[in-house]
Parts: sequence; C-alpha cells; structure tokens
Amino acid sequence: MKEKARQARAENRIIGLVPTMGALHEGHASLIARAKRECSPLCASIFVNPKQFGPNEDFAKYPRTFESDCEKMKRGRVEALFVPEAAEMYPKDFSTYVYVEGLSERLEGKSRPGHFRGVTTVVMKLLQIVQPHRAYFGRKDAQQARIIMQMAGDLNLDSEIVVCPIVREPDGLALSSRNVYLNPEQRKAATVLSRALEAAKKEMEAGSRDAPHLQDTLRRKLDSERLAAVDYAEIVDAESFEPVVRVNRACYIVLAVFIGKTRLIDNLYVEPKSSGSDELVFHL
Ligand code: PAJ
Repeated sequence: MKEKARQARAENRIIGLVPTMGALHEGHASLIARAKRECSPLCASIFVNPKQFGPNEDFAKYPRTFESDCEKMKRGRVEALFVPEAAEMYPKDFSTYVYVEGLSERLEGKSRPGHFRGVTTVVMKLLQIVQPHRAYFGRKDAQQARIIMQMAGDLNLDSEIVVCPIVREPDGLALSSRNVYLNPEQRKAATVLSRALEAAKKEMEAGSRDAPHLQDTLRRKLDSERLAAVDYAEIVDAESFEPVVRVNRACYIVLAVFIGKTRLIDNLYVEPKSSGSDELVFHL
C-alpha cells in the first residue's frame, strides 16, 4: 500500500482515502462516490479494528461481508483496496497509541471507554500508510469525525479531513452496519431516533432555542418507544461537544439508544444561517 501510494504521489496525483470496517452500505458508498469525484487514485480500507471495541462489545460478531464489499468497492471504482491483517497492524510488540484528550472522554467515549483511542490510533496508522491528500468520514459518527479533525490539526497532518452527510433509509433510520442485528420489530422501533430528532427540529423551527426544553422533547419521544433504552440524548456545542444551554451557535443533537442489545447512534447538526443570525439551518 505504501509503495502504491508513494508512486501516486510521485506522479503528482491527488490521493483519496475512505477508511471502513466493511459490511458496506449506501452510507459508505456515498463517501466513496464523493471521494471518487475529488481524487485519483481512490484508496479504501477494510479493517475491523479490534482496538476500538470494548471487551463486552460486538467485535467477534461484527458483520463481515468481504466478498460483497469487494464487489461494491469495484463498482465504486476504488483503485486500491487495503485490507490488512490485525497481526500486521498490531504486531506483538505494538505499544504506541494516539489519544485526543477531552473530546474522547465525552458521550461515546464515556459509554465506550477506550473506543476513541482505538479509532484515532488506527486512523493515524492508515493516514500514515497512505498519506492521502484527502480522507473521507461520515457525519453519522459526528464525534469521531470531530476527534479525527482535532488529531489532524494537533499533529500537523497533511491530509484534509472531509466530513460527508448522513445517508438514511426512506423511513429516516441512519444506515449502519449494525442495523442487520435488528429483527423486524426492532427495525421498526429503531426509527424512533430520527423521529426524536425530527421532533426537536420542528420545535427549533417554531423558535425554541432552550436546550433543556428540547431535551425533554427528545426524551419524551424516545421513552414512548417500548423497545428503546436511552444511553444519552444531548445537545452539545459542535466544537467542544460540551452541553449547551441555548441553541444559538453550531450544535449537535446527539443520540445513543439501545434497541434490544443493539446500540444505535444518530445526530442532527444545526447552525446559524449566517453569523449572528437567530435563524437556524438543519442538517439531518
Ligand atoms: P465504519 O463504521 O465502517 O464507517 C466508515 C465510515 O462510513 C465512517 O466515516 C462513518 O462515519 C461512515 N458512515 C457510516 N454510516 C454512514 C451513514 N449512514 N451516512 C454517512 N456516512 C456513514 O467508522 C468506522 O467504520 C471506523 O471507526 C473507522 C473510521 C473505519 C476506523 O476504524
């Protein structure tokens, strides 16, 4: 992979990278399509990174669909597919980690200790191996994208981090490799995440800016779904991921909800229409 990337750089080409854990869906496809428009060669990786899974998480049963992933990568005209082995990424004497302080401790980080350390370490390695001009991530994992941006800035990386919109099913459910864990009844219940975000959006459109009030709306909607157990439902500053009192700047409304044993996340990004404006723009 390094040799291939080196060659492309020597030819002054614009290298794109889309890191994934496989089990590809239309969310991944959207990153690949965007990267394809902006880069050549386009590289992608498939690596189910053991270091970002907690001991009681789903590493062993994480969906692995390598054959159909390869088909999708081909259809997306990915030029270089990097599929390292865990033993190659993490040899026995591996001992160096990348950790973004603060941001990695909140929300997802609090619920999944060690998760972001695993993410930043593997993404740093992938960025070092490929040294892409641009690397593409989804806003579906908003905190992950924010942390990777922080890492890229703090460590003076040359790669531009590009964040792409969330791709959803027609009924609003954000696409996720973990959606395959849901049985039909749970699949129906899982729409409660996007329904809760829609409800909060409606209130903000009607003028509400009070975070505790909006949080009540989220809670009420989520609690109305019998199969849903809320991990967190918060309104946070888009930079710091610290809770806000009023939605008067760029914010994320972030949700993590268990549907049965499956933990799903979703978010709504809101920002003022223009600087100082009270009008908000919504990115669901
Ligand atoms: P994975 O869950 O496979 O996701 C790969 C990329 O696809 C991530 O940037 C994620 O945000 C994006 N993505 C997932 N669902 C999406 C959706 N519905 N719409 C838009 N983008 C979506 O995230 C990871 O893998 C890993 O943590 C990784 C970054 C590869 C490091 O191991």
